[in-house]
Parts: sequence; structure tokens; C-alpha cells
Amino acid sequence: MSIQSAGESRPGSAGPSQQQTQAPRTEPAEALRSGHRTAAVIPAAGRGLRLGPGAPKALRALSGTPMLVHAVRAMARARAVSLVVVVAPPDGADEVRHLLDEHTLPEVVVVPGGETRQDSVRLGLAALPDDVDAVLVHDAARPLVPVETVDAVAAAVRDGAPAVVPALPVPDTVKEVEPCTDGGPEPVTGTPERSRLRAVQTPQGFTLKVLAAAHAQVAREGDGATDDAGMVERMGVEVVVVPGHEEAFKVTRPLDLVLAEAVLARRRVTDGF
Ligand code: CTP
Ligand code: MG
Repeated sequence: MSIQSAGESRPGSAGPSQQQTQAPRTEPAEALRSGHRTAAVIPAAGRGLRLGPGAPKALRALSGTPMLVHAVRAMARARAVSLVVVVAPPDGADEVRHLLDEHTLPEVVVVPGGETRQDSVRLGLAALPDDVDAVLVHDAARPLVPVETVDAVAAAVRDGAPAVVPALPVPDTVKEVEPCTDGGPEPVTGTPERSRLRAVQTPQGFTLKVLAAAHAQVAREGDGATDDAGMVERMGVEVVVVPGHEEAFKVTRPLDLVLAEAVLARRRVTDGF
């Protein structure tokens, strides 16, 4: 196992050795024949402000293991994924490389991220070798996504969808409001029909061509896009939804850490994992 920086070694040239070092990785036969590969890009460069003070969110521990390590394992376990690119906090790429090196992981490329998630994903895409033609973008902040969800997204892209998002029905009724920053009551401007709403998760899967075009064309506005599929939609490309999973929730606030620990405790009992 080795951790690379995109600057130290061309990711493209790392391809064959990655496949050698990744033990029982069964690449789909069609992908091997055509030389096409699916890569995962994991944006992990956020600070985790909503989680409260402490280390960058991706480096905080769940059951003693950094969230990012859980997320990398979740993607690397997927049969279709043959390369993982981690986008680290801009000043923390070396730390992330050392951290991943301490854990038994398949080969991972680490690149420094940007100011916004949109910037970080763009920097991750730039590190992909030429033989990658499909990409899964997965938040480090969703460390517990089951491999079945990752496989389902990858399969839908391989089956011809240019953009695929896992999503779940929304339990709460959702209101649209005129946002008010001073804490006053916010006027409601609409109530979308709940049965037509879906809460979107990651990994989101794309043909690389489509996602790279979206990141090249959609200019950053404000804090940037929080959702890659939204950028693709703006280009007029169809995005489809496959079933998400409740364990693919995003660790955002302190209570989410409690839920994540509970999920891991249940897995230890039921799967011995
Ligand atoms: N992310 C990133 N680069 C950024 C901002 C976010 O790679 N400049 C990543 C985060 O590390 C996370 C994912 O995008 O894995 C989803 O973002 P979010 O949940 O908002 O994480 P943070 O931005 O870290 O959290 P917060 O918004 O509370 O600060
Ligand atoms: Mg954020």
C-alpha cells in the first residue's frame, strides 16, 4: 500500500501497480476489456464548522477511526472502483497521506482541496488519469454508506446514465421561505408536494466527460455548489435517482456523531465488523 501525491507521481502511471496492490478487486470484465475505469473522488477538505470546534471533520474519529478512513474503505470495497482520490484540507495533505498510510487501504491519491466543495471536487477531478471514464463523488462526511449503494450508483452509470444520485423520500414536509438573517420570523413562499421530494446523498455517479464539463462551465457563485448533480442539471443533462440508504446520512452536527457511533456499534454486533 502506498499513498501518493498527484505531484509525486502521475496517477495515470500508477494504474497498473494499483491493481496489483489491491487484493481481491474484481473489475467488471467489460471495463477491463475497454480499459475504462471508475474512480472515486472524496472531497474531505471542509472544516466541519457545524460540528463545532476541533480537527477538520474528515479527520475526526468514529469508533477510534477517522471518518475519512471509513469513507475511503466504503468506496474501495465497491467492485467497480479501481482508484480513490482524496481531496484533503488545503494545508493538511501530508497529514492525510500519513493517516491513510497508517491504515490498511488500497492505493489512494491525495491532493489538496480548495475554499469550497465545488473547488475541492474540481481539484480532485484534475488528478484523475486519462483512462478513467466514470467517477463517483463521495463526501468524506458520509462515512457509513453501504457498499450496495455505491455499487448501485456505479452500475447505473455503467448502464448508460450520465448522472446518477442516490436519494431517499423526505420524511418532513418542506417549506420554501424568504430567508431572514436577523432571527425574525421567515415568510413562507411555498410548500412543495412532499411525495415528489427526495433528499439527495452521495456517492453521486457521472461519466467523467459530463462532470468535468459541468465543473468547467458552471462558475462558482457564493459558497459554490454543494451538489455536483445540480451543476450537471444546469447544463441540461438528465440526472436520475436510485434508492439511497439511511446509513448514508451526512455527519453534519454533533448529534450525527451519536447516530454514526450507534450504527457502527450495531454493525459490530450484527456483522462482526
Ligand atoms: N468539502 C471539501 N472542501 C470544502 C468544503 C467541503 O472537500 N472547501 C467537503 C467536506 O469535507 C465534506 C463534503 O464536502 O466531506 C460535504 O461538505 P459539508 O458536509 O458541508 O462539510 P464541511 O464543509 O466540512 O462542514 P461545515 O459546512 O459544517 O463547515
Ligand atoms: Mg460545508
